[in-house]
Amino acid sequence: MSLQNFLADDQLTKAQILSLIDLAKSIKATPKDYSQTLAGKSVAMIFEKPSLRTHVSFDMGINKLGGHALYLGQQNGKLGERERISDYANNLSCYADAIVARVFENQAIEGLAEHASVPVINALCDVYHPCQALADFLTLSEVYDDLSKVKLAYVGDGNNVSNSLMFMAAILGVDFTLLCPEGHGPDMALLEKAQGFAKASGSQLTFTSNVSELGEQNAIYTDTWVSMGDEDPSKKADILKKFTPYQVNHEMMEKAGANVVMHCQPAHLEEEITTALFDDKEKSVVFQEAENRMWAQAAVLVTLLAD
Ligand code: NVA
Repeated sequence: MSLQNFLADDQLTKAQILSLIDLAKSIKATPKDYSQTLAGKSVAMIFEKPSLRTHVSFDMGINKLGGHALYLGQQNGKLGERERISDYANNLSCYADAIVARVFENQAIEGLAEHASVPVINALCDVYHPCQALADFLTLSEVYDDLSKVKLAYVGDGNNVSNSLMFMAAILGVDFTLLCPEGHGPDMALLEKAQGFAKASGSQLTFTSNVSELGEQNAIYTDTWVSMGDEDPSKKADILKKFTPYQVNHEMMEKAGANVVMHCQPAHLEEEITTALFDDKEKSVVFQEAENRMWAQAAVLVTLLAD
């Protein structure tokens, strides 16, 4: 399969996503078979925002594939401020075989991809988190035999994570319900685009702000009510009040008949999810998702970089 970059879920085909999931499973099953796949290759990782899972899973995943990862933190400030984004891209392309970037604005990812002569991987921006969504569909495909029969709901703030899940679900043909408080839903142009994918794949894509319309679900996913970069202490009290009915807890799971709860982490316990549900060993797959970040990203790197 050929892939130039890994930037946004809506740029991927169903065949590409399924092939990445298959490859991730294969690397996870026999990592030793891939231990030299990135030998002699280096990956530059730019982080404008904090990270635990993304940083560690890329670094250790690249190491497992025999490659070398270099972490570039925030010491150089926001991309495009000290140097133009095109200059970052051109300079890093002199040394690195790929660029991984976590940025504030999707435009920065697009700028890097436009100017770099090496593949660029989006490690989260304001609009997408495709590495997370790939790991999550890998996780769902491990939990359920037939992905096409899964009903997945995302409850909470319409954000980068919900956008990526929405697109991947719609492309893969997975029924997806997005339940967000009024004024916190997805960008309407993105929703419309995802509706187009859902129509083509034959899946049901539902968007509502009405908690009673959650319906029957297999898995319920949630994420922080305030994303990195959007923190405004003066709005915190309002957000907590507005989002409280959208908390994912045992009661919501039971009503929906859901047996799996998902979270990309970091979790804000007792806000978007209860501690009891997050820690529920029967239902919570949060650490399986976290581990799968490494295998999913390894599949992306092998696809982009293997000779
Ligand atoms: N929506 C969250 C995801 C963190 C992995 C954020 O952007 O902060």
